[in-house]
Amino acid sequence: MHTSLTCSLNGEVHNLHELQGLSRAGKPLLAGYDLAALKGHWTPDAVRARSERSMWRFHEVLPVDSVEEAVTLGEGMTPFLPCLPRGPFAEFDSLYVKDESFNPTQSFKARGMSTAITRAAALGVTSVALPSAGNAAGAAAAYAARAGMKCVIFVPEDTPPANILESACGGARVVLVNGLISDCGRLCRAACDRFGWFDLSTLKEPFRLEGKKTMGYELAFDLAETRRTKTLQLPDVILYPTGGGTGLIGMWKAFDEMEQLGWIGPARPRMVVVQAEGCAPIVKAFHDDATSAPMFPNAQTIASGLRVPAAVGDFLMLDCLRRSHGTAITVTDDELMQGVHELARLQGFHCAPEGGAVWMAARKLRETGWIRREETVVLFNTGAAVKYNHLLRCDDALKVDHKAPDVLDRLERTL
Ligand SMILES: Cc1ncc(COP(=O)(O)O)c(C=O)c1O
Repeated sequence: MHTSLTCSLNGEVHNLHELQGLSRAGKPLLAGYDLAALKGHWTPDAVRARSERSMWRFHEVLPVDSVEEAVTLGEGMTPFLPCLPRGPFAEFDSLYVKDESFNPTQSFKARGMSTAITRAAALGVTSVALPSAGNAAGAAAAYAARAGMKCVIFVPEDTPPANILESACGGARVVLVNGLISDCGRLCRAACDRFGWFDLSTLKEPFRLEGKKTMGYELAFDLAETRRTKTLQLPDVILYPTGGGTGLIGMWKAFDEMEQLGWIGPARPRMVVVQAEGCAPIVKAFHDDATSAPMFPNAQTIASGLRVPAAVGDFLMLDCLRRSHGTAITVTDDELMQGVHELARLQGFHCAPEGGAVWMAARKLRETGWIRREETVVLFNTGAAVKYNHLLRCDDALKVDHKAPDVLDRLERTL
């Protein structure tokens, strides 16, 4: 169970027994745990011995008193797979994909919604609302349905149709907004104030972060298992497709917690923010040496999860990049779709455009030498390609008449 809620800017303590949004300073609140008490008692082996096949195997560092409280659909424990040395992938000795498309609702958003809805339910919430780029909406609808809550989502009107449909099918009220996610956020806030709904905007409530941080815990176990050792391991480089940055900030928090638990040492991976050229506020701020990121003008990208022109956790992401000696890089929409195709055709991974983006960013950083061949590199595929079917094409399917006598000859000519 968490034991504190403090402001990420000034450490001011907030009441953890009440519903909380942003801190009084207008910044994200961070949940804290009594890690000193857990240290030595709660060990990686104890986690490995658990039968719980979800991220809730880490419930000691999640916002519950017992695992029975969790509103869960089995999120987490996603595959961690090596890339085979084919084509451009052969430039890397140890390249892995953490495939978050295996989560319920097919994206990593499931992790955050599981913890946020769990905590909201424990505090008596019956209606939630949120702005979303798409995948968070689908996840919120599912977890709200599971918890028996009403759910209202505000999405840009050009959000991928799959996300709109899954949300509506999950019973959520879908509001299509003629603007960006930042416009959706403002409208959602006003609606929450008027109607008394609980605002689940990412990082504007403390617990989506807690679910997403489990990606960091799992990674350390995954890599140890891959290397056949009991000692938890972290990679040299993590590439993360960044919108609001909750996953990145969450993993960084997880590493800090694991060190306090005595599970890992002080070494950290170099964290890489990957954004689309048409919406890259964090990349720009990082290279401008800024500590916050102003609204990115005319935000546009087909990778809808990356279309976040302003993020409330900007200063936390920039701090994480600098402390980890990481970097921030953009890819174009054409490049990220090339990445989707390469991952599918050369590795068999059916990734979201956001996953395609991190692979292409890794290629670029390998070409410049920022990533060295022998380094262990992890790509986060945060969602499933099926959510983006509207972007995929199949122009070369062969249409045949199965009764035609020359059907096999025609087929042969195309092989
Ligand atoms: C598939 C996908 N990847 C990445 C992101 C960005 O995630 P974060 O807010 O953690 O930066 C999103 C957010 O919508 C997403 O849907």
